[in-house]
Amino acid sequence: MDLQQYLTEAAAVEREAVAAFDAAPDAAALEAARIAFLGDRQGRVKALQESLKAIAKEDKPAAGKRFNEVRTRLESVHSARRSSLDHVTSAAVADLTLPARRQWRGAKHPVTLVIEEIEGIFRELGFTIALGPDAETEWYNFGALNFPPNHPALDAHDTLYLEGEGLLRTHTSPVQVRTLQTYAPPIRVLIPGYAYRRDFFDASHAPAFMQIEGLCVDEGISFVDLKSTLNLFAERFFGAARTRFRPSFFPFTEPSAEMDVQCGICGGGGCPACKGTGWIEILGSGMVHPSVLEAAGVDSERYTGWAFGMGPARIAISRYGIPDIRILYDSDVRFLEQIAE
Ligand code: PHE
Repeated sequence: MDLQQYLTEAAAVEREAVAAFDAAPDAAALEAARIAFLGDRQGRVKALQESLKAIAKEDKPAAGKRFNEVRTRLESVHSARRSSLDHVTSAAVADLTLPARRQWRGAKHPVTLVIEEIEGIFRELGFTIALGPDAETEWYNFGALNFPPNHPALDAHDTLYLEGEGLLRTHTSPVQVRTLQTYAPPIRVLIPGYAYRRDFFDASHAPAFMQIEGLCVDEGISFVDLKSTLNLFAERFFGAARTRFRPSFFPFTEPSAEMDVQCGICGGGGCPACKGTGWIEILGSGMVHPSVLEAAGVDSERYTGWAFGMGPARIAISRYGIPDIRILYDSDVRFLEQIAE
């Protein structure tokens, strides 16, 4: 074979291969064309390589150069065609008319939703948020709040004692004292946070649970302010709900009252959610005891105030009709998804 024939043959292989690759309608046809031209055993490019041996010595460089050009070009045409076929294939498989799949990005916990809504209502009334430590001293948790040593009220507040003087706070009320020590009246704060008690973990109790405390202290504050503010809150949060105040006892408030809201599920007729009473207890409240003001260094002759403490988990349970408080602690996405906004 002389050089001229070789170059003609090389040009033919190149032309036919490019045409075959470009015309291949799918991956299988392209693969057949690849074997025919670039195949290791009987491919036409391989044959072209073999015929180099028959070229005269002085023509070899020119023939070899042309051979390399053809092989390189065909490899790149082949791979370009393969990637364009891949693209077509995946576009054909994907049904572009299907609605996009919604991504689950997580959502706020029901108790967080309740807390944020409560905060929003009180924020409009001029309350700000205050926080305090979960590990407290006995003085803040009990002493400053007018719990006499060995008083029976302590029974309801059994907790974990830490080494030294500390304990896990049994309510958010110690933050009342910390706030009164830090800021001068007028004070209006909302205090969300965890509280801890030695309770069994059952359908309506948890040993660690959220509370929201409210505190309002100024000159001339009376029980009228307490009632009207809490009634306004109930109206905003529960809709046009009826409330009732029942006398109660807390060492740090006097007088003290529990507030009930008419059960939104049965409308007051009695159902399992309200244990047949028609009412749901949502918070404890009262006028801040003068000893608490004095313990925090506030003049109790000049200032008066009211406070409340509520359990947002209890409220979430009645709002969302959740049968067992422990569900709130399970972090089961299937449950959280149902309440997520
Ligand atoms: N700290 C009380 C409790 O945990 C609730 C409360 C707060 C009552 C403020 C009155 C005033 O039970």
